[in-house]
Amino acid sequence: MSRSLTQAARVLRNSSAARSVFASSIRFYSASALPLKTPITLPNGIKYDQPTGLFINNEFVASQSGKTFTVESPSTQHTVAEVYEGSEQDVEIAVKAAEEAFKSWSQTPASERGLLLSKLADKIHENAELLASIESFDNGKALTLARGDVALVEKVIRYYAGIADKIYGTQIPTNDGFFTYTAREPLGVCGQIIPWNFPLLMWSWKIGPALATGNTVVLKTAESTPLSALVVSQFVQEVGIPAGVVNIISGFGATGAAIAKHPRIKKVAFTGSTATGRYIMKAAAESNLKKVTLELGGKSPHIIFDDADLDTAVEVAALGIFYNSGEVCSAGSRLYVQDTIYDEFIARLKARAEAISVGDPFDNETFQGSQTSKAQLDKILKYIELGKEEGARLVTGGERLDRPGYFIAPTVFADVKEDMRIVREEIFGPVIVATKFSSVSEVVDLANNSEYGLGAGLHTEDINKAIDVAGRIHSGSVWVNTYNAFHEAVPFGGFNQSGMGREMGEQSIDNYTQTKAVRIKINPKN
Ligand code: NAI
Ligand code: MG
Repeated sequence: MSRSLTQAARVLRNSSAARSVFASSIRFYSASALPLKTPITLPNGIKYDQPTGLFINNEFVASQSGKTFTVESPSTQHTVAEVYEGSEQDVEIAVKAAEEAFKSWSQTPASERGLLLSKLADKIHENAELLASIESFDNGKALTLARGDVALVEKVIRYYAGIADKIYGTQIPTNDGFFTYTAREPLGVCGQIIPWNFPLLMWSWKIGPALATGNTVVLKTAESTPLSALVVSQFVQEVGIPAGVVNIISGFGATGAAIAKHPRIKKVAFTGSTATGRYIMKAAAESNLKKVTLELGGKSPHIIFDDADLDTAVEVAALGIFYNSGEVCSAGSRLYVQDTIYDEFIARLKARAEAISVGDPFDNETFQGSQTSKAQLDKILKYIELGKEEGARLVTGGERLDRPGYFIAPTVFADVKEDMRIVREEIFGPVIVATKFSSVSEVVDLANNSEYGLGAGLHTEDINKAIDVAGRIHSGSVWVNTYNAFHEAVPFGGFNQSGMGREMGEQSIDNYTQTKAVRIKINPKN
């Protein structure tokens, strides 16, 4: 029923005679096809109304085409909602709204922008359990981990609330008859395209610095996880962030492409695969040379020296890969263990992997939930088969769990070779590949033998070795005796093909401002 109305709407839209009545007609058809809110009861009993529209100008609206898509819970394979799908036309409407909003938002006192962000952080705090539950439901991640995501989301938004009125230009003492100063100004409408592994966290990394600096945004969520960003859009409106400052479009790759090539969007910030990042950079170059920041894939090395505290190292190596079902851009997916402890370490890692509780994300005992989509499940299983064909030793795991939902047993491959595809390519699942090394210089070379450069971990009790090796690894983050230790004040981003630009911390402000230099000629009056 809703599909045929949708199709009728599309036919109507394409007829030029109908163009003049097009907007109101589509609105009529769309509104009758799918309500703008749908009641959902989450597996833990929490009930709420899920917005289903696109969020434009502080209102939920149907897409121009009336087209919708289904949202699935990957841990049950049940359809949980239907949401509107944005197209190029919707992106255009959102950009217009954001351009209009930019005129006043960019001139709003920075302290006021900060206060609104602070109120947004309060809302996230008050609704933390609801948000974590939605995130777990939509993405398949364990609820206990989703709670951690939401806690960091709140901190990120609070960090940018605090930094909003502390962004300064400089006065440059040229002493040449000019008064010279610089100002840091916002860019305008920023396009933001986010992935599905940390939907709400990626929303916060994008929205926080953009709003603090006076930009307005058109953000596209990932097709497999559209729910949480729509829910927090209600908070955006409730706390009084003006209409058009934040616009959220649900949709697929084509909708993201419409953002990347839009001629009036001034910047695009993207998190996702390196292949799509490459496309976005090209589209940005060919449209209007919009500024680009990219946070892409990784194949991050995790190094265990024989003087490390082994209890900690085993634990961290396991969490570094199995956290978030391995769907982490900086996952410690290449394990390098010193030869003197290699056999013992692999045996202990096997035991740790087998002790990981995989299953129902809403069970408080669960550490590893499901993968986020069938596509992701299939990709990971393909790599596992490839690893076996390539001759890696399967130590544990290596299969899908026999239950509904997209679950994969924590998987360890050992004795891998540097040229194997499972060592070179990002798997983005609970699969770690291990090999041994004997010296510091050997492991530095192994670690750096990658087209990526996002994260890296190293374990040693020797502070000299830690600082030396941290300095020689080519990656945007290095964690010592810990892993994936994110903090809202600490910049995160990639070397090499893992991306460009940094998110979080003060550095992210650079990506959302441009410097204006003003020179005033001084005419002395005596
Ligand atoms: P993807 O990079 O295609 O998707 C990420 C986002 O980009 C989504 O919102 C998607 O709709 C959008 N997108 C897709 N094609 C686009 C285009 N042509 N123009 C603009 N936007 C576009 O990643 P996908 O297909 O979901 O996952 C494939 C692999 O990418 C994963 O297996 C993983 O290896 C990697 N990945 C890495 C992430 C990271 O955090 N670095 C996050 C997600 C995926
Ligand atoms: Mg989903």
